[in-house]
Amino acid sequence: MDGNGRWAKARGKDRIFGHFEGVESVRAVLEASVEWGVKYASFFAFSEENWGRPQEEVLGLMDLMMRSMKNELQTFLDNRIRFRVLGDFSRLTPGLREAIRNMEETTAHCDKMTMIIFLSYSGKWDLRQAARRMAEEGGGDLGDYLVTAGIPDPDLLIRTSGEQRISNYMLWQLAYTEFVFTDTLWPDFRKEQYLDALREYASRDRRFGKVK
Ligand code: IPE
Ligand code: MG
Repeated sequence: MDGNGRWAKARGKDRIFGHFEGVESVRAVLEASVEWGVKYASFFAFSEENWGRPQEEVLGLMDLMMRSMKNELQTFLDNRIRFRVLGDFSRLTPGLREAIRNMEETTAHCDKMTMIIFLSYSGKWDLRQAARRMAEEGGGDLGDYLVTAGIPDPDLLIRTSGEQRISNYMLWQLAYTEFVFTDTLWPDFRKEQYLDALREYASRDRRFGKVK
């Protein structure tokens, strides 16, 4: 999800308003995902590098995360959406950690789809923690030690706001993911733009390195 700040700036508003409006896009994309039968929808909400933003913005985003979870709990239960948060929890406040744990537990039985928020996450951090644990435990498959263990690799990655880079997202898991880049800023990315991205995805020929 990228471009919230620029969206706000273009309207002469504070960056946080872009983040507020971005939550509406998350809601729209999630709603469409349920409707269209998407099984996993993941959102890169806050990277390890984002901790380096001004404190006011970091606090604003954490507060928004906390409030959004509270507001949406019933919607998740009604729509049978399982909620997961993946990332380096050691950097979160105890209050936020507790709220996440509670939301994850309350929705653990939901089986229609899974929504994953990547929070305080980076792909390199994930690989580092996985490699360390794998060495401690004496081996296995690295993928089983990543925070995404048990979750299928993404079929499609959508990046908004015209940037064309991975920015330390799931470095291992994106091995055969299809990429769709769009100039649309995240707060303007709604059902119609999501459908365009899925159409683009559907036109791709996925061979996974083999011949057809
Ligand atoms: C949202 O967009 C992504 C987050 C890290 C919350 P940005 O905050 O990166 O917006 P821009 O890139 O400054 O426009
Ligand atoms: Mg950005």
